Amino acid sequence: MLTLVVLCEPVIDMTETRKILVTSALPYANGPIHLGHLVEYIQTDIWARFQRLRGNDCIYVCADDAHGTPIMLRAKQDGVTPEQLIAATKKEHEADFAGFLIGFDNYYSTHSEENRAIASEIYLKLRDAGHIHTRTIKQAYDPEAEMFLPDRFIKGTCPKCGAEDQYGDNCEVCGATYDPTELKNPVSVVSGATPVEKDSEQYFFKLGDFTNMLQQWMREGHVQTEIANKLDEWFEEGLQDWDISRNAPYWGFEIPDAPGKYFYVWMDAPMGYMASFKNLCDRTGLDFDAYWKRDDETELYHFIGKDIARFHTLFWPAVLDGAGYRKPTAVYCHGFLTVNGQKMSKSRGTFIKARTYLEYLDPEYLRYYYAAKLSSGVDDIDLNLDDFMQRVNSDLVGKVVNIASRCAGFINKKFDNTLSDALPDKALYNELVAAGDAIAAHFEAREYNKAVREIMALADRANVYIDENKPWVLAKEAGREAEVQAICTQGINLFRVLMTYLKPILPATAEKSEAFLNTTLDWRTLDQPLLGHRINKFKPLMTRIEKENIDAMTDASKENLQQAADAETVTGPLADDPIAAEISFDDFAKIDLRVARIARAQHVEGADKLLQLTLDLGGVSKNVFAGIKSAYAPEDLEGRLTVMVANLAPRKMRFGVSEGMVLAAGPGGKDLFILSPDDGAEPGMKVK
Ligand code: MSP
Ligand code: ZN
Repeated sequence: MLTLVVLCEPVIDMTETRKILVTSALPYANGPIHLGHLVEYIQTDIWARFQRLRGNDCIYVCADDAHGTPIMLRAKQDGVTPEQLIAATKKEHEADFAGFLIGFDNYYSTHSEENRAIASEIYLKLRDAGHIHTRTIKQAYDPEAEMFLPDRFIKGTCPKCGAEDQYGDNCEVCGATYDPTELKNPVSVVSGATPVEKDSEQYFFKLGDFTNMLQQWMREGHVQTEIANKLDEWFEEGLQDWDISRNAPYWGFEIPDAPGKYFYVWMDAPMGYMASFKNLCDRTGLDFDAYWKRDDETELYHFIGKDIARFHTLFWPAVLDGAGYRKPTAVYCHGFLTVNGQKMSKSRGTFIKARTYLEYLDPEYLRYYYAAKLSSGVDDIDLNLDDFMQRVNSDLVGKVVNIASRCAGFINKKFDNTLSDALPDKALYNELVAAGDAIAAHFEAREYNKAVREIMALADRANVYIDENKPWVLAKEAGREAEVQAICTQGINLFRVLMTYLKPILPATAEKSEAFLNTTLDWRTLDQPLLGHRINKFKPLMTRIEKENIDAMTDASKENLQQAADAETVTGPLADDPIAAEISFDDFAKIDLRVARIARAQHVEGADKLLQLTLDLGGVSKNVFAGIKSAYAPEDLEGRLTVMVANLAPRKMRFGVSEGMVLAAGPGGKDLFILSPDDGAEPGMKVK
């Protein structure tokens, strides 16, 4: 008896478990996560989850990229220290990633002691091996702000086409690239002063020392073909020395043997992968060297966007090699996101922040859509919002979830939640299981679009089966109970196979399905169908996307054009969040401000910032979702008076319809003050 049980367990050869470390590029700590970034984090997360589902050890780490001039200046502009800025941003990034079910094993920061130690150790090794030298160069200097200026902080007239207001490194009008010294009428973006040229000594990494090694590495197939072609161009141009130092004032790590000089942000940024992993090792006992020194034991993959390929396929492998570390098993590049066929745009409302999306839509819709679009190439991918809605609704809701909902009711109600003891169409079941190898190969090769196409073709087969066997018709005929139970058992087993294949893409729906099926979705045990097994009550797994939610999301993402233009000339807090375009008094008079009593305040499941308020306007009750959770607990609000915009058109959000807005003011976080009218105010009173 005992042996039988053991035989039923899947045979997993533990010696074949791969040890994998994957990373996504580290987002800059001075801006919010948007849907463009998410192409990468979703792509990587699906891959990591897939590896784990197949029984491999896969660790996924990331961090905020917290150094550099833009972060230094941004903090100054906001009147906070860089430490405060990066701490606040990290919290937001982590919440956004959690919202999209990105399952990092560790999320850290490049501004950490681990990273400081790694950066200095690597630098000293490179120096001692003779790969660093110093040279005096001329650079643009802002005499008023008393700082050297990165190219992006100089603007002027394009030397080629004469277009005004172009950045110091390239012209967005004619596409020319040039040196900031060639710009006509250059001005510093920091102070408005005319930059001057100033000499200073800088530290260079001799990339040319690694030409042969890099050519060899490239030929071994660690990069995609498109990137290998790009690398060939760079090799032909010859590998130049790389300036790894910046002068004070700079926000970063000071170079150990060079006071007043700092590591350029791109020097310590990829080391942030190591630092994040080191931090995890110190907490969990993982072996750091196994992953960073011994490439015969472990695999290391970096997922990145095509804009940062040079840093990851030239500088980074060279730095690793020069300092005695292993090189990546592969660097996987993806393309850029466009929305409705165009670059993301604030005026069109297609520059959509992760947070805004989450207020209106379920994260798994986007995970699925990106998966359906992603391939292993570097082509850009387009989020067409109509196609997005249509595809999610017809594939996920119409096909996959539908299989379960068409069969579950009968099993739940008529058969005491119990599946039959045999499958009526074992061949069909076997066909779905047999497709698993091809699907796995597509996931492994990052051809998610092919995996999704296969899975949906199988879902069609499952639906055809149910359509042909019509359990709802048989259920009405006497004496055919066993058939109904068997057909539904077949349907539910097909659903289980499909959901297992989709588990890396839809982790939350997979979890709900596991609760329903009363089993863990495990790729390795699919050859054994669930028979004579008790399931649980079926609860709806996913709802359709409504057009209204998409429209509300793009509306909420629209930024007034005037606002964007004004931002150029203003400094201080208004610079990033300028006063909106003027409205007429008549427009203002349309706004009906009322005193409202907060009758009820509740947490909203799945929302990080929102509270659901039931507002009493003196007889009329309104439901409002307000982004004030950071400042108030629900119990602090109940019974209080506030001011609300009572005649705002209702907006459909992810968690329900919002029928107005409450007024609050403050810098955000804990300091967000509900505007309460004086004592003596009555709910419903007009606010004057
Ligand atoms: N901080 C650097 C990466 C350092 S890695 C050691 C950086 N940060 S970023 O915030 O600008 O971008 C983070 C990742 O998101 C990059 O891989 C970038 O290519 C990717 N994307 C940013 N915008 C994107 C789109 N619009 N579309 C697709 N990917 C995009 O670069
Ligand atoms: Zn130009």
